[in-house]
Amino acid sequence: MRPFQPTDPRGDSLLRTEVRTDEHKGLLDFYLNEAKNCEENLTSFTYDIVSDDGNFLGFFCVSNSLLLLDEKEIMTEFKRKKNVSFAPPATLLGKLYICNCNRGTGIGSEVILYIAKEICFKSKSASRFIIIDINARNPNAVNFYTKRGWLHPRTYARKMFFDLLRFKIFLKAYKEQCRNSSAAEILRLFAIYLQEEQN
Ligand SMILES: CC(C)(COP(=O)(O)OP(=O)(O)OC[C@H]1O[C@@H](n2cnc3c(N)ncnc32)[C@H](O)[C@@H]1OP(=O)(O)O)[C@@H](O)C(=O)NCCC(=O)NCCS
Repeated sequence: MRPFQPTDPRGDSLLRTEVRTDEHKGLLDFYLNEAKNCEENLTSFTYDIVSDDGNFLGFFCVSNSLLLLDEKEIMTEFKRKKNVSFAPPATLLGKLYICNCNRGTGIGSEVILYIAKEICFKSKSASRFIIIDINARNPNAVNFYTKRGWLHPRTYARKMFFDLLRFKIFLKAYKEQCRNSSAAEILRLFAIYLQEEQN
């Protein structure tokens, strides 16, 4: 996987031929009909995911957001007792779609790592979390994110978040174990690390 270059083919023709299941229709329609508009209006940026040899593999889009936590979570996490309406800054992973024939090869995991390291950690605009809205008709997605260290806020079953601060601390502590590991392995290790921290 590498960043998109202007000479790479866009994914339109490939995505038009993808099998349209109900839970994925919205994702495909977004790329084909809305992504460019959102980019022009500065509401979200869509990234094409491209293989090292220039093949279109899928896409994701990101924008700035806030994570609305409940009062108790804010008080424990941020030690804020006076201003409990504080909502920490977050990066919204609005869409993530890997083409049918490329799934299960670790690209989705690489994307999460890319967003954390290359977009969030390198940005001058702080994000404490990456967040997603989960489609209730897509239990596979919940499974995918849960195994990679994503959690549900206490009061929003349809949202999941990836804690960037904990991930940064984890990467420092597990530097050696992560050195030659794939993105999927790093994220699985992170999920275990979070579980152990909770116990
Ligand atoms: C969910 C999704 C983004 C994951 O991307 P991916 O590149 O397949 O991710 P990975 O290869 O890192 O891991 C996929 C997991 O599914 C398993 N898998 C194996 N074959 C698979 C296949 N053909 N399709 C899907 N998943 C498969 C993998 O073994 C892995 O399982 P694990 O969690 O036990 O490790 C991708 O399946 C997808 O685009 N789905 C359709 C759109 C969607 O649901 N997006 C999420 C919206 S919130």
